[in-house]
Amino acid sequence: MRIIVANDYDQLSSRASDIIASQLILKPNSVLGLATGSTPIGTYAKLIGMFQDGKIDFADVIAFNLDEYYGLAAQDHRSYAFFMATHFFNHINIPRERTYIPNGLAPDIEEECYQYEAKIRQAGGIDLQLLGIGHNGHIGFNEPDVKFEALTHLVHLDEDTIHANARFFASLDEVPRLAISMGIKTIMHARKILLLASGKEKAATIAGMVHGKITPELPASVLQLHPDVTVVVDKEAGAALGSIR
Ligand code: PGA
Repeated sequence: MRIIVANDYDQLSSRASDIIASQLILKPNSVLGLATGSTPIGTYAKLIGMFQDGKIDFADVIAFNLDEYYGLAAQDHRSYAFFMATHFFNHINIPRERTYIPNGLAPDIEEECYQYEAKIRQAGGIDLQLLGIGHNGHIGFNEPDVKFEALTHLVHLDEDTIHANARFFASLDEVPRLAISMGIKTIMHARKILLLASGKEKAATIAGMVHGKITPELPASVLQLHPDVTVVVDKEAGAALGSIR
């Protein structure tokens, strides 16, 4: 794992956007795996700036998002489809038909998950997967468990995640309890992984991910086994990494 400790959130976002921009410059038809949550918002903003300055182009990019709440329509302002449109896709030139997000209203969940995996395969696999990390160590919506869940699947969200995400909903009761998420194997198949974390409440989780035992109880710990992972943290999220840097 390559670990970059940025001074603050702004620098973290610059480092992350530079890594994604170099991926696009080296391979303009890259397949990107994208993430939602508060952490990547600054990275998306910097990428939008680079696009507006003519430095990068998304015309040939294909994007697959990690996850979506089950039960929310893409038009629902709390869905991840809406998040991606608002924070990223509406501001760049990626053709909308090349952006994939699990369908939160899919009538047949198993079929939706199967087709999502098939589309990733048909696109040639993910070149660069962007990840955030939950306080509980989840990546995508792969919650702590007794086993690693392999492929795209239906998830029962953890209480911890429901509470963490309640800030985007009018009340705790409105937070969906189910989601569709890429699995650990889907994520591990990406050629490169870029994980971002900001803030002191992520420090212990980041230290566990980097130094701890590889266990499905801290799903991100599996990334120790991936050959090309870059972790960009700000000082606060990197605080418990201590002297290993
Ligand atoms: P956050 O979420 O970026 O909003 O902290 C990260 C995650 O839950 O994966």
